[in-house]
Amino acid sequence: DKGEHRHFMAKEIHEQPEVLGHAISAYVDPVGRKVVLPEGGIDFSKVTALTMSACGTAFYATLVAKYWFETYARLPVETDIASELRYRDVPYREGGAALFISQSGETADTLAALRDAKEAGQQVGAIVNVPESTIAREADALYPTHAGPEIGVASTKAFTCQLATLASLAIAAGVARGVLSREDEERLTGVLLEAPRHVAEMLHADKSLEAIAAEVATARDVLYLGRGGSYPLALEGALKLKEISYIHAEGYAAGELKHGPIALIDEAVPVVVLAPRDAVFDKTISNMHEVMARGGKCLLVSSAEGLAEAARGGKVWGEIAVPEVDPLIAPIVYSVPVQLLAYHAAVAKGTDVDQPRNLAKSVTVE
Ligand code: F6R
Repeated sequence: DKGEHRHFMAKEIHEQPEVLGHAISAYVDPVGRKVVLPEGGIDFSKVTALTMSACGTAFYATLVAKYWFETYARLPVETDIASELRYRDVPYREGGAALFISQSGETADTLAALRDAKEAGQQVGAIVNVPESTIAREADALYPTHAGPEIGVASTKAFTCQLATLASLAIAAGVARGVLSREDEERLTGVLLEAPRHVAEMLHADKSLEAIAAEVATARDVLYLGRGGSYPLALEGALKLKEISYIHAEGYAAGELKHGPIALIDEAVPVVVLAPRDAVFDKTISNMHEVMARGGKCLLVSSAEGLAEAARGGKVWGEIAVPEVDPLIAPIVYSVPVQLLAYHAAVAKGTDVDQPRNLAKSVTVE
């Protein structure tokens, strides 16, 4: 049942404040302001290194989580797509843990990579949306994402709930490893608990994105740029656009642009710049100005403060305002404009949004 929405994808995008609330309350005690993980799970106080793997959108969740585990838990992290990891001869570290992320819990490559890690003696955790799935059953520890059934082929709410679950785990790991103080834990859990409210606020801007998305929909190629935690979102934005609107798109780390892709820039290529006001904001904006100096049309996604600051360097082609949030939850909140842009571009093109061509919801063959 799509309710008032035209597509399951739209319904699932709009469900995010609610399901994020479910995901976060599964791991965060709002009164005690602490992360409470299920009994018998991974003991992060003893973990020497972390490997994370998944496919597609779930893989981008591992890239965001890499920043979190490094920053908040000071844990060495390796991530790779499951179809590569399973065929590499990985020298897994003694005492290591491995996390596998999957909406369906049935993705063949992810399952195979999980089995290899387990055989190599890693403690294996599954972050899955379907708790009865094979990946959930075969893992040593299960961390459900609580997004509820996802029908649209393009992953939306499953992704943000994966992020919320991974953020909780990273905070828990930081506490267990003595990296985060009690005050840090209180502050970070407080920030995480605010994520659903900011996502809801972002969703109020849904309608206002339609016009800009309709313009993006006329492009042949689109670039997405971001740094830090926004780099994986640039990859996710490009994947979402390709997958449902069939527009060619590429995500790049903003600093990598001058090493090749800047040659693509002309007035016909929209460049979506994801720039929360974090430690690398100025760097991203200066990369955006390089694009503008070459005639590129930039669509800047930032907070009102960030948009105002960037405007001093020249007027951008388009703007999307996002609530100003702590860097911890920026990847969750910035997922929403990325999803809405792809959704409205696909609607403008008239593609089959919930059932894009050539794709299946669950990829059980390699
Ligand atoms: C993209 C998308 C896919 C999945 C990927 C993994 O919108 O949905 O890239 O993320 O096929 O699927 P799961 O998470 O079921 O393992």
